[in-house]
Amino acid sequence: MTLSEIKGRDDLPRHIAIIMDGNGRWAKQRGENRIYGHRQGAGAVREVIEASAEIGIGYLTLYAFSTENWNRPDDEIDALMGLMVKSMNDETKTLVENNMKLSVIGDVGRLTEDVRLRLQDTVELTAGATGMHLIVALSYSSRWEMAEAAKAISRDVSRGLTDLSDIDEKLFSSYLGTSGIPDPELLIRTSGELRLSNFLLWQVAYTELYFTETLWPDFGRDDYYMAIADYLKRERRFGLTSEQLSDNK
Ligand code: IPE
Ligand code: IPE
Ligand code: MG
Repeated sequence: MTLSEIKGRDDLPRHIAIIMDGNGRWAKQRGENRIYGHRQGAGAVREVIEASAEIGIGYLTLYAFSTENWNRPDDEIDALMGLMVKSMNDETKTLVENNMKLSVIGDVGRLTEDVRLRLQDTVELTAGATGMHLIVALSYSSRWEMAEAAKAISRDVSRGLTDLSDIDEKLFSSYLGTSGIPDPELLIRTSGELRLSNFLLWQVAYTELYFTETLWPDFGRDDYYMAIADYLKRERRFGLTSEQLSDNK
């Protein structure tokens, strides 16, 4: 499928989430160190953001760094954080000019102050934007996010702000980092790994999953259109039968 065939369709995913994986292997294949791979990966990030805005995707969530990634070697963590700051320095102007809103989900308290403040700056600058919403999952773990939600709900119940009988799926969702953001219709993971690695476990309950062997630094517009085209071919049944769906059309 080409851009012109995708653009303007009324059944496009509103929200796409991506597990950007394979930077290390991409670098290794070229005899380079892992950090080189992360640097190249930043280029793919830019391309996917641009393509998403062109197609008219409302929300794009990118898994940039997991809680488990804190266990990587210090020099790799430093390089990833440095790249995050560099991307913010380079791209904030573009985000503002294109009316894009940036949010960060995850345990940001673990980030160093400079990284946290740099991100906060862009989040505040773009807070009023009404165009595409870009959500970066950083120091993120879905189980952590859910445990935090459980804690916050308990706190509100014990203070009398919420009633035990009010706790349902909708309320629980509103306590997650993704509060107010619709669940993704499509989740893409690159590099051939067939797992979720602690990403949006609650939010992907009914998401269509797409896995590709392409390593993240090689992931470009054509791969992205291919993933979206694959999504558009699927029948999303939500527990119903195929016949029920065609009767309701
Ligand atoms: C994804 O690439 C980027 C992050 C997890 C930060 P990896 O660094 O996981 O690359 P591989 O999986 O080792 O190839
Ligand atoms: C998942 O990739 C996290 C990000 C893409 C940021 P990993 O490379 O860390 O995942 P595992 O360890 O292979 O499951
Ligand atoms: Mg990986």
